[in-house]
Amino acid sequence: MQRRKFLELSSLGLSGLTLPLFSYKNVAVKKPIVISTWDAGIKANKAAWEILSKNGTALDAVEKGVMITEDAISCCVGLGANPDRDGFVTLDASIMDHQFNCGSVAALERIQHPISVARKVMENTPHVLLVGEGAQKFAVASGFELKEQNLSKDAEKAYKNWLEKNEYHPVINRENKGHGPFAPNTLEDGSYNHDTIGMIALDNFGNLSGSCTTSGQGFKMRGRVDDSPIIGAGLYVDNEVGAAVSTGQGEDVIRIAGCHLVVEFMRQGNSPEIACKKAIERLIKVKGLEKCKDIQVCFIALNNKGEHGAYALHKGFNYAIQNSDYPNKLFDSKFIL
Ligand code: GLY
Repeated sequence: MQRRKFLELSSLGLSGLTLPLFSYKNVAVKKPIVISTWDAGIKANKAAWEILSKNGTALDAVEKGVMITEDAISCCVGLGANPDRDGFVTLDASIMDHQFNCGSVAALERIQHPISVARKVMENTPHVLLVGEGAQKFAVASGFELKEQNLSKDAEKAYKNWLEKNEYHPVINRENKGHGPFAPNTLEDGSYNHDTIGMIALDNFGNLSGSCTTSGQGFKMRGRVDDSPIIGAGLYVDNEVGAAVSTGQGEDVIRIAGCHLVVEFMRQGNSPEIACKKAIERLIKVKGLEKCKDIQVCFIALNNKGEHGAYALHKGFNYAIQNSDYPNKLFDSKFIL
């Protein structure tokens, strides 16, 4: 922050936690700030803000924030979500801090908070990613409760419905309908959705962290892993530049190392919104326009100056932001198709 501006604010008694801390291109920006995907982000941001507004760390905020979504019964996050085609709920999650520390889990079963296991992988092992049985064993050894292998009522209904109506082959992601992780297990038209809660925070110390957690595509092939636990694809943080997190068709985010790409576009001087847009354009370039018509991919990004942005392939994506200006506001993302 410019020294003169700081002194002016101080003299007004306005140099508290949530006031402008520096300016960028003459636009005052603020920290702390938290942003997250879809309308599920509203509740998740609230939990994160509890931490950020009390001078807590971005890392704690992004963990605690998405735990709210993991606890809810919905189509796409946590143990209440839709299962894979063999009837098992398998969870993917990752977390990354401002010093390139990162941890993730994939295909984790019967554990309520995969994001917290991901954090333990980051903090207590020399590894980045643990999967399946090994991830579960590590979780239990770390003190996490092993839950019963039960589907939520909504997921059981959706699964029975899927078994009746669907053939045993992958189905197209329906994520372009404007639903997020809080979507019901079965949509009004009988179809299914899938989505990820992804969150990025910038704390009062100027440090960024990010998290994401999902059950992935409902009725996916057993063993399928999405982009969320793949560092650089579903999540990336570089404190020198910014951070990004994705939601949407995981295979296509992985294909372009999406979130790393967004961060690199920001490093080149692009705003978060333009960086997200360029990543979506890259996807269209590598996949072809026609093949992008039935999938949804979305990015949100936050730079280390507190500027945020998003872009999606299709209409219907939104993201939630909370800072001292916005007591938790939902923004509609721009889109290309
Ligand atoms: N990004 C979530 C998924 O691909 O299932």
